[in-house]
Amino acid sequence: MSSDRKRVVVARRLPAAGLEVLRERFEVDEGTLDLDLDLLRSRVAGAAALVADPTVPVDVALLDAAGPDLRIVANFAVGYDNVDLAACRERGVSVTNTPDVLTNATAELTLALMLATARRLGEAERLLRAGRWTGWDPGALLGRELAHSTIGIVGLGRIGSRVAELLSGFGARLLYAAQRPRPALEVSLGLERRKLADLVGESDVVTLHVPLVADTRHLVNASLLERFRPGSILINTSRGGVVDTSALARALTAGPLGGAGLDVYEDEPRVPAELIELDNVVLLPHIGSATDRTRNAMAKLAADNVVAVLGGGAPLTSVT
Ligand code: DGY
Repeated sequence: MSSDRKRVVVARRLPAAGLEVLRERFEVDEGTLDLDLDLLRSRVAGAAALVADPTVPVDVALLDAAGPDLRIVANFAVGYDNVDLAACRERGVSVTNTPDVLTNATAELTLALMLATARRLGEAERLLRAGRWTGWDPGALLGRELAHSTIGIVGLGRIGSRVAELLSGFGARLLYAAQRPRPALEVSLGLERRKLADLVGESDVVTLHVPLVADTRHLVNASLLERFRPGSILINTSRGGVVDTSALARALTAGPLGGAGLDVYEDEPRVPAELIELDNVVLLPHIGSATDRTRNAMAKLAADNVVAVLGGGAPLTSVT
């Protein structure tokens, strides 16, 4: 039976809070976790909206396969480096993301990764599970406290600012590098602004909170890594492409880095063996926003954007 409801294609999966909103109003074609791009190109033909996520390349081929009825690409993520914005603009397709609702979850995960790396939790748990714990040892698995450390925050947007706020209770000295100065936050959170190269030279822990764009691809490269403090820690919950992985692996084995905590990778879900083999690295599978509350809020916001645009209104959280 044909329907005159507009068609919304969810490239992969969308949590219930978003699906319900869409199903009440549209004909919804939800995919599966296994992304098959050929299949997606045929599913998307004639759709009015596409709900994508960071694993879905929204490129010219996909937009052309969708055709002229496509009005919106609602990305189920705050990052949108998977979307060809110029191609969307040329076709008059709105692009939206899911800011704010995931800020706290991602910032908390950043703190978790920072503590896990600084206190060597991965290494300690692996040792215990392998039956190699021989009892309390005054000199074993010594780590670093965040109090008395200098922590450098790269990017002071929503997530970077929330990380600073959470860290302000730890008694750490907080530095930040950002395009624009943030005088109010400097006062309220005791932050000091630095140029990136100076920040990494002064920090015991550096945490990345910038989007992946042309200017930030491999922002952390071999020459910047040389300027890090000996024994310092790098945390990345932003995008893998912000860090040159080969240079990172070298800096972790030959110095100056003492450890890294990573939630994101250059070629997900591939995690380079050179990192997996290292004991001083904590590796997570891109779970920054992975709480039930947050994923449902992201899904609802993505769906609300679709409703707004297909209803003839302005997108709620546009990135174009
Ligand atoms: C994002 O939102 O960009 C994350 O990477 C997934 O939550």
